[in-house]
Amino acid sequence: MFSARPPLRKSEIPCHELPIHVNTHVKNGRIIQTREARIRARRQIAVRPIRAVMSDQSGGATTTTTTLPGSGGSPTSSSDINVKAVMTIRKKMKEKLNERIEESWESFVNGIGQGIVIQLASEEIDPVTKEGKKSAETAVRGWFSTSPDHRYILEYAANLTVPSSFGRPGAIIITNLHPKEFFLMEITLHGFSEGPVFFPAHSWIHSRNDDPESRVIFSNQPYLPSQTPSGLRELRAAGMVSLRGYGRGERKKFERIYDYASYNDLGNPDKDEDLARPILGGKERPYPRRCRTGRHPCSSDPFSESRIGKPHPVYVPRDETFEETKQATFSAGALKALLHNLVPSLAAALSSSDNPFQCFTEIDQLYKDGVALKMEESKNVFSSMLLPAMMKKVVSASESILKYETPAVISRDRFAWLRDNEFARQTLAGVNPVNIERVQEFPIRSKLDSSVFGSPESALTRECLEQELNGMSVEEAIQKRRLYILDYHDLLLPFIKKMNALKGRKAYASRTIFFLCQKSDSLRPIAIELSLPPTSSSPESKYVYTHGHDATSYWTWKLAKAHVCSNDAGVHQLVNHWLRTHACMEPYIIATHRQLSCMHPIYKLLHPHMRYTMEINALARQSLINAGGVIEACFSLGKYSMEVSSAAYKNWRFDYEALPADLIRRGMAVEDPSKSSGVRLLIEDYPYAADGLLIWEAIKEWVDLYVNRYYDEPNSVASDYELQAWWDEVKNKGHPDKRNEPWWPKLRTKEDLSDILTIIIWTASGQHAAINFGQYPFGGYVPNRPAVMRKLIPQEGEPDYAEFLLNPEQTFLSSIPTQLMATKVMAVQDTLSTHSPDEEYLGQLHITHARWTSDEEIQKGFVGFSSRLDEIEEIINERNRDSRLKNRNGAGVPPYELLLPTSGPGVTGRGIPNSISI
Ligand SMILES: [Fe+2]
Repeated sequence: MFSARPPLRKSEIPCHELPIHVNTHVKNGRIIQTREARIRARRQIAVRPIRAVMSDQSGGATTTTTTLPGSGGSPTSSSDINVKAVMTIRKKMKEKLNERIEESWESFVNGIGQGIVIQLASEEIDPVTKEGKKSAETAVRGWFSTSPDHRYILEYAANLTVPSSFGRPGAIIITNLHPKEFFLMEITLHGFSEGPVFFPAHSWIHSRNDDPESRVIFSNQPYLPSQTPSGLRELRAAGMVSLRGYGRGERKKFERIYDYASYNDLGNPDKDEDLARPILGGKERPYPRRCRTGRHPCSSDPFSESRIGKPHPVYVPRDETFEETKQATFSAGALKALLHNLVPSLAAALSSSDNPFQCFTEIDQLYKDGVALKMEESKNVFSSMLLPAMMKKVVSASESILKYETPAVISRDRFAWLRDNEFARQTLAGVNPVNIERVQEFPIRSKLDSSVFGSPESALTRECLEQELNGMSVEEAIQKRRLYILDYHDLLLPFIKKMNALKGRKAYASRTIFFLCQKSDSLRPIAIELSLPPTSSSPESKYVYTHGHDATSYWTWKLAKAHVCSNDAGVHQLVNHWLRTHACMEPYIIATHRQLSCMHPIYKLLHPHMRYTMEINALARQSLINAGGVIEACFSLGKYSMEVSSAAYKNWRFDYEALPADLIRRGMAVEDPSKSSGVRLLIEDYPYAADGLLIWEAIKEWVDLYVNRYYDEPNSVASDYELQAWWDEVKNKGHPDKRNEPWWPKLRTKEDLSDILTIIIWTASGQHAAINFGQYPFGGYVPNRPAVMRKLIPQEGEPDYAEFLLNPEQTFLSSIPTQLMATKVMAVQDTLSTHSPDEEYLGQLHITHARWTSDEEIQKGFVGFSSRLDEIEEIINERNRDSRLKNRNGAGVPPYELLLPTSGPGVTGRGIPNSISI
């Protein structure tokens, strides 16, 4: 920490220190360069020697001095500090011809005195002006320097002089006189006695033509609000005000405004009334809030926001957009290309024959022979995108072949998906391991309104279950913690009638009971209940299936399991994946930018966990979860998908997003103070939970260390007004439909803070990774996890029952997704399971963010966190080698790797990125 010197009286100040030019001023919380200041700056620029500086390999700098025509330089006092500001800028990789021409023109213009103007702000107050001390403004020159080693990284510099009493520089004010924005990575100041001072930015600096407000980049020294050096206080407050906006007008591409809106942008009623969708967010359909874009309302519905047409991007604050490497190569970029090009091409190739698979061999052919896309239809696909690793192309003279990689679920054991033990194993180690619960009460009852949904009693009777309990009574099995359930009944039943009225969709609300075999510590499904809502002709439509041993029971059991998997796929996608990770993170991110200064230590802690989430969410609202989007097209819930997501949010609780709390809520663990995580798993071989707890604890330990470092004073959390405003906003503006819930944790102590931050970081990292990156490995084989079911199970006496008896395989294949639905969902799942080459994994620091903090103790703590994650990787690998753990080791059983911290690029089924970016 740097302590401010006691202020000098005016008479004590050496005269050469007095004329600190204050060329910018704060107006309505905005940093504005005055007209007078701009003129003065130009004059100063005109007489100042300017240097273009290039870093050499050793990190030093070579300089060339350019003395401008007519400039005489300015004499400096021996007690002045000569400061060199080195500015690192990232250039666009792809530039259109017109941009290159513009750039040449700018180089010329820049050479005669226009460009980037910077001004240093001291941490100290100027005793005369009573404002923060500021240097004179100076221009950065040389828009044409290029490092041969880093083609897209450019460095420029400016020399400034400040008096020796200037104090430590705490911020740099930047004004971009160029007509175009530029991406500022970092500024380093050389010349101060304490060594180089770093100002990490990683931000787009807008052109003054777009917005007259100057930008302020703070040094990497974290400060709690109360510790903010007096010279920076005004800049700190102003910086946040400028990010909040005023909740009016349509957001423009260059803006960095973070504001809230409800989900009123999913429908497109102007195009077709069937594409109208209800607004999510409000009493009837509660939902977390999204980033406000302010587009004008639809003409057919004033409450819904109009859609934005391709190729225009949806607004997200400028610094939230994908970097070019991500755009141009994999994952999110591929997702865009996939949605815009590949999915329509698949539709064109298959729509005339959107048939069910005729035999299982046809499904296998997707991995062997691929899907033939006509050359005309596919050329855009292959020319405009790099396909994710799992999809390959083979181009012949007349057609392209889109070939899918064999997904992990069938790569080791072709028939595992047919077996009950694999069905059960996937509830503990699959892509959706978060819905399995322990049965704690019997009989099983619905909480739905019985006047609408019929008798609350489940058809899963004692007699039915006890046939499968090895002589045990139901009570005994419950008491011995041996009965488990996957229960989608109450969430889905209210939607089943509407879903089943959609063309080609037929679903039930399911409950599946599992029995825990003590000897093998593994689950076995023993009964499935499939329910339809009551009708006047059929007040009870509850069907119970058991695995049976005769041929007919075998096939109906298999169909019942497929219906359960379809329920599971929908809930996984819309609730556990989209709602609980993607949608719930967005308000935390918005609140963090609006209420925590980027100088705030908690902002610095959260920053890596917020990367790209707003943009991937915007892309999803535009093309995945929107009316008529891929999710509606490919999942059973169809146009009611997001309504189901909202219904699930009614039961969402922030405190239950903590992994130990979630496990206790589901009865999968009990409290155990002797365990470092505080809980003991009741099924020890529960790979998601066992590995998840290791990651959870590592995050908690790191967060505890971090929070303790900054909040060692009693009451320091309660008195941190930025932090308190942040938490209030998360609750009241980010999750306003839940604002009055009693379960929100209080934020009074450092323990409270640590618990809250651990939940947020776990959600963005471990939880999302476990739920996201197994989508193709498990869903890429459609019979294992059909996203949609198209037929109910034939019942005796019904017309299609005879057909079922004659050809059960055909009944099964005609019940699961058609070829078009399957290939579409496989392509999307493949892309969503892909790691980008520039992914940042938990515990890793990208080289460009190496100077995120100046706090050495915290840097050391981060190294400890990284080492712990390395150890955890080894523990997980060891668990996967342990033959006692049948859910992750055995003949043909894939290891559980979804929570291994690291990964390479592509679809790897492992790796925990810091943030949700796909
Ligand atoms: Fe995701």
